[in-house]
Amino acid sequence: MRLLVCGGAGFIGSTFVRQRAERGDEVVVLDKLTYAGRRENLENVEHVFVHGAIEDQESVARAIDGCEAVVNFAAETHVDRSIAEPDAFVRTHALGTFVLLEAARERGLRYLQVSTDEVYGSIEEGSFTEESPLEPSSPYSATKTGADLLVQSYALTYGMAAVICRGSNNYGPRQYPEKLIPLMVLNALHGDPLPVYGDGLQVRNWIHVSDFCAAISHVLAHGKPGEVYNAGGPDECANIDVVRRIVELTGADESLIEHVTDRPGHDRRYSLSSDKVRALGWEPGVRFAQGLADTVAWYRDSRDWWEPIRSGAYREYYERQYGRPLA
Ligand code: NAD
Ligand code: DAU
Repeated sequence: MRLLVCGGAGFIGSTFVRQRAERGDEVVVLDKLTYAGRRENLENVEHVFVHGAIEDQESVARAIDGCEAVVNFAAETHVDRSIAEPDAFVRTHALGTFVLLEAARERGLRYLQVSTDEVYGSIEEGSFTEESPLEPSSPYSATKTGADLLVQSYALTYGMAAVICRGSNNYGPRQYPEKLIPLMVLNALHGDPLPVYGDGLQVRNWIHVSDFCAAISHVLAHGKPGEVYNAGGPDECANIDVVRRIVELTGADESLIEHVTDRPGHDRRYSLSSDKVRALGWEPGVRFAQGLADTVAWYRDSRDWWEPIRSGAYREYYERQYGRPLA
């Protein structure tokens, strides 16, 4: 199969490209290479690379010809950045998704939109199903919701073979260190404070990135056009417990943990029911305890990957966001 993977130089996209290339698929990656997209993420992975934005029709046309399906990971993905500067979120999620959908529709291609549990908002107890109402809280999740609705409208209006796969919090190798787990691992390894938002009792449903990518392949192959499929991880964990486990795994001092000002509009708990994608034959394979230990080991051993990030523009971001420099 020849696949167009948009956002394939990011954390989850590059894992998906690696899985598909190993299966023998031909993969074309279209990526704008924002701060989060890196060619290094695709080192030693067979693919064709097109540098461009999904909202740019010419780049999309250059990348899409000859492909049988489009998988769209391309997005601005950090909630805190969406609160500080929402512009790029609106452009990429609304306009970018529209341009891709049009290109796929004109060519009669299958289309998969990678989405998030954050479109449902927060849930105190139980789990969201695909029928739950959409109640996004942040500019990130609101613009992702808009993109999902546009995808569904293309399936309904034009009969396009478009599907949506909504994932819970991913973790694993090559995640940009603005996100909770890699941020805490790298700070712990450097003796920097570990900034926990508010009381730290917010709960996330952790899925290993390899499991989420396998779910996406299942939905691409077997999902019904116009349908949504949730893919949640097997374990949930409060943020403070994640950070405590990272402290143990890195051998850092627990006194590094600092409770800092909470994120505005912070969702308390995410939880997904994945029965529908399980019925397609998917099962998550990685439990959080083992996956987290492996992820910490990967960061410990992958200085070449994170050093250029931690010594570059990320430092400025960190100081703006946390009001203090990194060590
Ligand atoms: P990431 O930030 O690591 O990667 C995003 C990639 O998209 C980067 O390579 C970036 O350069 C590229 N990109 C951004 N804007 C673009 C544009 N306009 N045109 C082309 N490329 C562009 O993100 P990630 O964590 O790998 O997330 C990938 C997808 O999965 C996103 O759609 C996100 O909403 C979704 N998702 C993420 C998680 C998670 O926990 N990280 C969970 C569920 C769903
Ligand atoms: O749920 C899926 C979503 O997971 C994806 O759609 C998003 O793209 C991805 O960024 C992620 O969103 P979160 O906001 O849940 O992830 P983040 O890693 O930013 O934060 C996880 C939790 O940890 C959240 O409750 C906020 C908290 N946190 C985060 C950071 C960066 C802290 O307490 N301190 C921090 O410094």
